[in-house]
Amino acid sequence: MTPLHEVIINNKTSIKPVWIMRQAGRYLPEFREIRKNNPNFIELCLNDKLSSKITLQPIRRFSLDAAIIFSDILMLPYGLNQKVEFKKNFGPVLGNLDITAMSKIDDIDFVEKIYPVYKAIKFVSSEMNLTNKNTIGFVGAPWTLLVYMINQQSPKKSVKKNFFDDEYLINRILLIIEKFLKVHIRNQVENGANVIQIFDSWAGLLEERDYPNYIYTPTLNLVNFVKSLNVPVICFPREIKNYKEFCEIVKPDAISIDYNVDPLFIRKNIKIPVQGGLDPKILLTDQENLKKQTKKYLDIFKDHPYIFNLGHGILPETNIEMVECLIKTIQDF
Ligand code: CP3
Repeated sequence: MTPLHEVIINNKTSIKPVWIMRQAGRYLPEFREIRKNNPNFIELCLNDKLSSKITLQPIRRFSLDAAIIFSDILMLPYGLNQKVEFKKNFGPVLGNLDITAMSKIDDIDFVEKIYPVYKAIKFVSSEMNLTNKNTIGFVGAPWTLLVYMINQQSPKKSVKKNFFDDEYLINRILLIIEKFLKVHIRNQVENGANVIQIFDSWAGLLEERDYPNYIYTPTLNLVNFVKSLNVPVICFPREIKNYKEFCEIVKPDAISIDYNVDPLFIRKNIKIPVQGGLDPKILLTDQENLKKQTKKYLDIFKDHPYIFNLGHGILPETNIEMVECLIKTIQDF
């Protein structure tokens, strides 16, 4: 069994596997080298030779336990023909959403449009299987995708004032998102993804009274779908106000925590395997502090099934030596 499966499925506490959110990305010089010659991010994700190579870059460099496929949560709206662009120093910009046209798209159109993502997963997973490591597939949660598709860019502190005005439209979009998220997950699993992570990056934007409609119900639906494929599912409802309630209702196989939540509260109140937590900004400080903060998480989760990760993606300005120090600290513990 792979280390991640040992922790998530068997609740093993004697090993602390590690992978890093955004491990295939801009802090790596070898990634920046490829990126320099490939200004179009979506095209890069759809170049299966290069996206496989990028996915494996951190695996070749560090002693990590899993690969996460180099792709993006916004491949879903892209696959549904909504325009998606990444503007330098700004982030994603989406085109207008045409609900009538979107309603006519079928599974075959969608899969055809993002087919290279599955091809890359197939190649990467065949490599990872040779060393008994995991290949993590992922999707954005319905709420976070809804935010991007309607807001057309990253929200700052809240969604637009009139965001919820057309409830009928929102519900139609949510149904389309859910349908194609299932198609996307199924194809990732069929091509070798053996863990699925659901990123709800904007869960923190909602009021608690809106959790049932926009987070719990649609995410529970997806979690049950992933479970039906016999693959463990990790949820990351970033900055949600109540991780405990989320776990009790949605019942993921593991929960990934952000850096604002108290790990002691999590250990005490959450029984399922836990992942992550360390603030990525700690990697911008010094090695002594990094070791201290890393050991804090390792100590707290010593007797709990725990996968080491950060509380959000690794920052582009992170030094390679700090990543090496982090991984060594975990593996020496
Ligand atoms: O290594 C990995 O983790 C795998 C690849 C991955 C990417 N995006 C590649 C990427 C994953 C898992 C994602 C998820 C993702 N994408 C999320 C959820 C996680 C989170 O960060 O909250 C979100 C919200 C997105 C949407 C997105 N993609 C944004 C907001 C941005 C721009 C902001 C930024 O960090 O530059 C992206 C671009 C993106 N996705 C990059 C990478 C490596 C940077 C591309 C570049 O400019 O080189």
